[in-house]
Amino acid sequence: MKLTLVIIMVCFLSYHNEATLQVGFYRDKCPFAEAIIKDEVTKSFLKDQGIAPGITRLQFHDCFVRGCDGSILIDSTPTNQAEKDGPPNGITVRGFNVLDNAKARIEAVCNGVVSCADILAYATRDSVVLTKGLYWDVPAGRRDGRISRASETSDIPTAFFNLDQITQSFAKKGLTQSDMVALSGAHTIGRSHCFSFTDRLYRFDTKMMQDPNLNPYYAQFLKLKCPRDVHGILNQTLVVFMNQSPLLMDQSYYGNLLKHAGLFMSDQVLLDSQKTAQQAAIYAANGLIWQADFVKAMIKMSQIQVLTGEQGEIRANCRVINP
Ligand code: HEM
Repeated sequence: MKLTLVIIMVCFLSYHNEATLQVGFYRDKCPFAEAIIKDEVTKSFLKDQGIAPGITRLQFHDCFVRGCDGSILIDSTPTNQAEKDGPPNGITVRGFNVLDNAKARIEAVCNGVVSCADILAYATRDSVVLTKGLYWDVPAGRRDGRISRASETSDIPTAFFNLDQITQSFAKKGLTQSDMVALSGAHTIGRSHCFSFTDRLYRFDTKMMQDPNLNPYYAQFLKLKCPRDVHGILNQTLVVFMNQSPLLMDQSYYGNLLKHAGLFMSDQVLLDSQKTAQQAAIYAANGLIWQADFVKAMIKMSQIQVLTGEQGEIRANCRVINP
């Protein structure tokens, strides 16, 4: 009886160890990995500041499809349409070259040791810090997935989701509604293509052209930035900044929600329940509270369904599954 208990305990502990990520995972295995990633992200950021929001979004999209396994970084092949070419990604995702450059330099010093999924996790932390967000120690030890399917990107919530739908989509990944409210604040940095929200301006539903939940002054501003031509056609390359400080991890996102100036429907609906509206109001009043909650939720998100131990692989090139 005692022996059975010990065996069960050992099995549980070894399983538990395997499934747990670790801060400082590469300290002995590849001591310069973190520094190389930071250097590459910083260098690219100085050339194009948009890569910081770009990389932050990549991690969200990676973790929501088959867990944080670097599968968003894999290129499509003639026989497989990969996640990066799925509907929520395509021309809207950016930052891949930065990760490629970091990976190439890391491979040159420690071959086959650092996963692409971990490189993305470190690069995301560095991106948040470069946009004046809080620093955190990244738990690492993720392995790379060997599957990437465009069809599975339906796990990523869309900008037209209502509060229940977003809450459920996060719950499916083990995140609470409160995590979701904190994580949505990432929309304080970056840009959006006009096509991601113009339904709210021009064809909201069968009765109304414009979303009544959208501040009319903000709607007017967005229409100027995202005009349609005489045939009602929108230029697919047009973009707008998320808000007035698109390079700063500040609480302006939540302040804007209170003014009904959230860019996406999925942003504005955070005011649709008393609980989520209260959380947004607390964040709008105190950016530090938001930043602390954001970091906690990011660490949680970055551990969704991770592959560890002997699972998956360490990809040699983040774009290609090992032969
Ligand atoms: C309710 C869930 C969410 C929805 C529906 C959503 C949707 C979107 C959409 C439609 C865009 C614009 C893409 C474009 O047209 O260029 C965007 C941008 C962005 N999203 Fe989200 N998102 C959500 C949650 C998140 C989360 C959890 C994060 C990160 C933690 C995040 C980070 C970003 C960032 C940083 C950008 C700007 C990207 C850039 O500048 O390249 N989003 N999101």
